[in-house]
Parts: sequence; C-alpha cells; structure tokens
Amino acid sequence: MKHLALIPGDGIGKDVTDAGMQVLDAVSEISSFNYDAELFDIGSERYLASGTLLEAGEIEALRSKDAIYFGAIGDPRVRPGVLEQGVLLRLRSALDQYINFRPVTSIHPYVPLKRETDFDIHFLRENTEDFYMGMGGRVSSGGDLELSASRRMYDLKISLHLDADVEEDFAVELGLLSRKGVERFAEYSFRHAESLGQDRVTLVDKANVCTGIYGFQREIFKQKAKEHDMELDFMFVDAMAMAMITRPERYGTVAVPNLFGDILTDLGAQLQGGLGLGASGNINPEGVSMFEPIHGSAPDIAGKGIANPIAAVMAVKMMLDNLGCPEEAEMVRKAVSGCLAEGKVTPDLGGKLNTWQVADDIAARILKG
Ligand code: IPM
Ligand code: MG
Repeated sequence: MKHLALIPGDGIGKDVTDAGMQVLDAVSEISSFNYDAELFDIGSERYLASGTLLEAGEIEALRSKDAIYFGAIGDPRVRPGVLEQGVLLRLRSALDQYINFRPVTSIHPYVPLKRETDFDIHFLRENTEDFYMGMGGRVSSGGDLELSASRRMYDLKISLHLDADVEEDFAVELGLLSRKGVERFAEYSFRHAESLGQDRVTLVDKANVCTGIYGFQREIFKQKAKEHDMELDFMFVDAMAMAMITRPERYGTVAVPNLFGDILTDLGAQLQGGLGLGASGNINPEGVSMFEPIHGSAPDIAGKGIANPIAAVMAVKMMLDNLGCPEEAEMVRKAVSGCLAEGKVTPDLGGKLNTWQVADDIAARILKG
C-alpha cells in the first residue's frame, strides 16, 4: 500500500488532479497497485482566509509519504511570489527535491515542428539553487542588506553593504550554487544518461556572462564526466533555445540550472505539443518526490471543464514510475497515447471533449486493458 499526499492547490489544479486521481483509481482497480491519499488543503483559499501558507507539521507529514501529487499554485488576488515562494518553492527546497525532471518528446499529431526525426529530450532542471534561492532585496546608500536561506546541506547568511558615497538605490537577487549542490546535480545527470544507455550529457548555462556561478558549475560537471567516462557538451542558454527549434533531435539528457530550466521547459512543453501536455517530477532520489503538471493554475478557466488534464495524468505516470510500478505507469502512458492519437482531447488541442470526458476516456481505456 502506497501512501500519497494530494495537494490540488489553486485554479485548475483541482480540475486536473481530480482527473489524475480518477486515472489512478482505474489503475488500482485492474492491478496490484494500492494506495491511500491524504488531502492537504494548501493554496490561496486557505491563505486568504487565515494567512497560512504551510501549517506547522505539514512539511513533516508530507515527508512521511511515498509520493506527493500536486496540482498548481497561483492566484491573482495574492501578490505574485507569495504563494510561489511560500508553498511550491518552499516544498521543493524543504523536501530537498533537487532535480526537476521534465521530459520533452514529439507527441503526434500535436507536435508543431514538422521534423523528420522525433525528439526525446530529458531536461533535468536543478531545483533548489541558482536564482531560486529567494535571496533578494533592496539596499540604498550607506545601507545594509541581510539575506539568508536554508537548505538541507547548509544554512546561509550573506550581508551586503552599500558604501555611503554611492548615491543610488539598488535591487539585488543572488544566484548561488554550492559545491555539494552542483555535485549531486551532476551525479544525478550522468547516472540518468547512463541508465538510458546514452554516452553524453549536455549542460546548459551562460558561462560567458555569469562566469562566477556557471564557470564553477562547468568545472564540477567536467570532473564528474571524467569519473563516469561520459562526454559532456556545453550549450549557452540562448543558443539552446534556438537549437530546441532547429535540431531538437540532437539532444538527450540536458542538465540545466534552475532559472534557465524554468524558461526552457515552457518552450519544451510547447515544442512537444502544448503546455497542457507537459508533466514534471520534483525528485529527491533519497526521499519523497512530488509530481505536477508544468502548467500553472489558470484561474480564468478554473472549474469550467476546459483545462487539459493530460499533463496532470502524465504526472501520475511519472509518479508510478517513481514508486517502482513501471507496468502500471505503462498502462497510463498507453491509454494517454491512445486518446491523443484518436483526438479525444480538449479544445486547446483542437478537440471537443471537456476535462472530465478526457479523464473518462483515459480511465476507460485502462479498465479495458
Ligand atoms: C514551474 C513554475 C514555478 C517555477 C513557479 C510557479 C514558481 O513556473 O514549476 O516551472 O518557477 O519553478
Ligand atoms: Mg515554469
């Protein structure tokens, strides 16, 4: 019996995780997979009503689960950043989910790029450091700014002082990489490529401009490449954005720092057929991982039944793989590809079905076997 946590969150998060849970129920009906799910009322409604982002004990409760299934977070009534930093980013770092796995593959017939060869890129986005440290603020003439952050590997305090003779206000956002952070990211990336029988990893950065952090990252990746006897390619992020359009089939395992990974994987989601198809796993290889669609909460369409549930259903597939149930994961993959191939999809993909009908269709295919 697997113990899951369910966090529908905001907006269409509820619609699409309902669909995902329906699919999971279908899987458990015809396989030996069994689960219970505890619902966590985390999101904007509770925050607006009580001011609570995460209650005491919630992180510990989540840590004790086998996996977490997450919908979406974000609400126009709340200042941008509050929910994102206070919930999603906090969970990723508190639960030390240091890899964000986002596969980008040709999904026919929705893939907008007409290429002769299919592509299958595995983006491994570093998920706890870089410009996502939450270390930002403002400092003016003669002033001090104290910044702090906590990760499993360290508690960090940095003080900045601005000389009194500089008459200007500044805003800063620190992008930091720790040696341990990069080492485990590199280690995971090379192992991931090895497990797929690949002989190389591509590392994306902007080492020609942000030489401090990305030069450091290159050094560590080079060392790891030697240890693993693997090839390592470097790509600047701007060139990578272009290459994803011009020759996506050349890439396999792509390691990318947090902020650039955020951007490239939205591009990736469109590249494979649309944001409604992109799933992701926030992975802690030694602990509990959290699975979610890449898309946001889209509050304008919440509850209307037009949200595409496929990204969230594919997040269930990733969760099953992570839980050591590859056969059950395959049932979901097969059912989704059947429904995509037959155009049983929502209007964003040119279909006529609503969210619930797509979920019914996928669940029925699974039950049919
Ligand atoms: C994502 C999202 C988040 C991120 C936001 C909601 C904080 O865009 O998962 O890609 O930037 O990581
Ligand atoms: Mg994003």
